[in-house]
Amino acid sequence: MTHQLKIAPSLLSCDFSNLETEVKNCERFGADILHVDVMDGHFVPNITIGPLIVKAIRPHSSLPIDCHLMISNPDNYIDDFADAGADYISVHAEVCNHLHRTLSKIKERNCKAGLVLNPITPLQYAFDAAEYCDFILLMSVNPGFGGQSFISSFLDKCKTLRDYLDSNGLSHVEIEVDGGVKIDNIKQVVDAGANMIVSGSGLFKGNLEQSIKDMKLAAISGQ
Ligand code: DX5
Ligand code: ZN
Repeated sequence: MTHQLKIAPSLLSCDFSNLETEVKNCERFGADILHVDVMDGHFVPNITIGPLIVKAIRPHSSLPIDCHLMISNPDNYIDDFADAGADYISVHAEVCNHLHRTLSKIKERNCKAGLVLNPITPLQYAFDAAEYCDFILLMSVNPGFGGQSFISSFLDKCKTLRDYLDSNGLSHVEIEVDGGVKIDNIKQVVDAGANMIVSGSGLFKGNLEQSIKDMKLAAISGQ
């Protein structure tokens, strides 16, 4: 099964003083998903945004909203994000004591359930949890900040995961990549088997419309 390429701008790098316009522009310029980075200052050093902002942007876009929860105790907030209008919710393996329960809870709320692994968290978590997931998010930076450099060990990990999924009756599970993805490495990332491509600084630093176009092109043909 070949999954459709989905470009997911990370709003973390957008101009928050013009959030409505930025959100509308993502859709207008051909993005496929809105990626929202939720950070609690506990699991990761940074503090960002919560369900209130998801609720605020929901009426301004018909794109799916992908909430990447970089928070401790995510179970306590799944209902809040689902109520706010999230379509995808992902949680980190590193903070979930009862992953099966957490992923089930996300699905019960009719959201797509994702498991996230930090760069050095063993892939075994993804192997064991994949049947309960709609997607697996592999971090290609340490979570917490936009604008970091891509950790290249992601590529082998992603290939191994894609092969595992495809050879174990789990080819419907999508792979998302997050961190340091830009025009010059997106082809490698896609060739490694990821199809949900998060990019923050790679898209918002320049002209968003052009960057989304270039990114889609580069995903197929390289630079
Ligand atoms: C990092 C976040 C990312 C980040 C990506 O913790 O999860 O989504 O915004 O930003 P770039 O593409 O700039 O690395
Ligand atoms: Zn993210």
